[in-house]
Amino acid sequence: MIEVKNIFYSYRKNDDYAVNDVSFNIAKGEVFGFLGPSGAGKTTTQGVLAGLLELQQGSVIIDGTSREGQPDKAFFNRIGMGFERPNVYKKLSGYDNLKFHASLYNRETEDPMTVLEMVGLADESKKKAGAYSKGMMQRLGFARSMINKPDIWFLDEPTMGLDPTTANSIKGIIRKKQKEGTTIFLSTHNMFVADELCDRVAFIVDGKIAAIDTPKNLKLKYGQPAVTIEYAEAGKLKSETLGMAGKDKEILQKFIAEHDVKTIHSGEPTLEEIFIKLTGRGLE
Ligand SMILES: Nc1ncnc2c1ncn2[C@@H]1O[C@H](COP(=O)(O)OP(=O)(O)OP(=O)(O)O)[C@@H](O)[C@H]1O
Ligand SMILES: [Mg+2]
Repeated sequence: MIEVKNIFYSYRKNDDYAVNDVSFNIAKGEVFGFLGPSGAGKTTTQGVLAGLLELQQGSVIIDGTSREGQPDKAFFNRIGMGFERPNVYKKLSGYDNLKFHASLYNRETEDPMTVLEMVGLADESKKKAGAYSKGMMQRLGFARSMINKPDIWFLDEPTMGLDPTTANSIKGIIRKKQKEGTTIFLSTHNMFVADELCDRVAFIVDGKIAAIDTPKNLKLKYGQPAVTIEYAEAGKLKSETLGMAGKDKEILQKFIAEHDVKTIHSGEPTLEEIFIKLTGRGLE
């Protein structure tokens, strides 16, 4: 559905690239994640794909049609844009914000009240958005981004700064929209969000993609499963973490046989551990 080939983007139009030779494909109905630390180029890539930033180099093909210059109105009608910082009109109520945005689209839109209910703002629908808390504004921005029932939905840190319950309901909406066939490009520096929601994840750092795969494959391919053993020794509880594959297996078996083992916990590696392994950088 979306084919991105060798895109570059420089804000200064020199050889200082915020996006540096990035290629990937997204299938229809897929949640594709961009996971990377601050300044990696996530928002810039999203801007180029959505046509908010010029396509300086490389190609973006959507449904078989190559982007030439600025995207046309038909494209803007079918995409949803969730921004890092919610862009809502503070003088308008939550309801009027959505009503106004719905009026800008030349296609069937959601009922503002239905969407406000989905994000838990129904009771605050008449309140001016300027009086909303940060999290409420973010939810309104999220609601706004799906008002035109987008086929392609861009989400930039959709759960950042939200409490766990609200974050979960936002994740639920994303999953529901995916089931309905929406194709989703999601940027985040939160490995849990990427792991939970994304079918495939691209690791991005310094404008370059370091790996693309399903979260599961990334863990299987690059992670080393480990076990943490708590054991008693000289009246004290001690712990040791050991690998489970290859030669480590023998060491593990020997260790268990020779110690007074109290507990054993196995853990799969986190996406951040793999990210660090592949890029040398953390996600913060
Ligand atoms: N408007 C701008 N003008 C100049 N440089 C910019 C601009 N926006 C971003 N950059 C630079 O481009 C690079 C990529 O930034 P971008 O915002 O795409 O990263 P990001 O991965 O979205 O980071 P974050 O997680 O902090 O949102 C950074 O080096 C950043 O400083
Ligand atoms: Mg960003």
